[in-house]
Formats: sequence, structure tokens, C-alpha cells
Amino acid sequence: MAVERTLSIIKPDAVAKNVIGQIYSRFEAAGLNIIAARMMHLSRREAEAFYAVHRERPFFKDLVEFMISGPVMVQVLEGENAISKNRELMGATDPRKAEKGTIRADFAASIDANAVHGSDAPETAAIEIACFFPTLAIFSR
Ligand code: PPS
Repeated sequence: MAVERTLSIIKPDAVAKNVIGQIYSRFEAAGLNIIAARMMHLSRREAEAFYAVHRERPFFKDLVEFMISGPVMVQVLEGENAISKNRELMGATDPRKAEKGTIRADFAASIDANAVHGSDAPETAAIEIACFFPTLAIFSR
């Protein structure tokens, strides 16, 4: 099994619900180490750049508006198969389709406000991590 890193974002809806700790507990219980973290309020420019790959999709504008609507908690998770493990913990994009016990099933209200983001592949994880964290701010163990 490969030790991987992935970028996780706890989105404005979940930060507003005060469930950062509960979501962190799920990461830790699944064997994912939080090796970097910062709370921030994304600017429009940062959100548009982060989601640039989705620029042509019909929901792009709504997604950006939502992501700048309040503070987010951004972290790097490290562990065996961290990318797929985190996406399993997150559940399906649409919380109505997310499996019971997943973060989105438990904390998300809609496909627009779906609580968490997680990188989907090693290449995107590396790019996304570099968007938010310089190498010196990441504490692997
Ligand atoms: S994913 O998670 O990338 O596999 O899912 P995808 O369906 O490709 O969606 C890409 C991101 O867009 C968000 N999304 C939406 N936002 C607002 N409205 C609608 N209808 C919608 N559909 C998808 C989805 O949550 C993904 O954001 P992240 O932050 O990556 O989870």
C-alpha cells in the first residue's frame, strides 16, 4: 500500500455547523494524519483558480460563490491510500446519494453545500496541496 497525501477542505457549511472536530476525528480514526492545516476565507480569485478545471461546468459560479461565503478549514492528510480513503470517508458528491455514516451523509445539506472536498488523484493532490501549503508548512511523521 502506498503512503499518499491528499488535500482536504472542510467547506463553509461544515465550518458554520461547528463540526470541524467531528470531521477531524473521522480522519484520525481512519489512520489519516493531519500534517498541515490552516483556516482561511478564500478570495474569489483563489476559489476560481482552485476550481479552474470546472470553469465550463454549469455550477461553476454557484460553487465559487459558496466557497467564498465563509471561512474554510484546509488540511493535508497523509496515510496509506489517503486519497481514496478520504473520498470513502467523504461519501458521494450528492449527500442524498452518499452512504450512511459518511461525512456528507451526516453533515451535508445539498450538492451545493456538501461539507468537504478531497483530491481525486495523486497528480491533482500535489497541485492542490501546493495551492495552500509551502513545503516548510507540512509536517510529515
Ligand atoms: S468530484 O468530487 O470532483 O468527483 O465531483 P464533480 O461532480 O466532478 O464535481 C466537481 C466539484 O463541483 C461540485 N459540484 C457542485 N457544486 C454546486 N452545484 C452543483 N450542482 C455541483 N455539482 C458538483 C462538487 O462538490 C465538486 O466540488 P469539490 O469541492 O471537489 O467537492
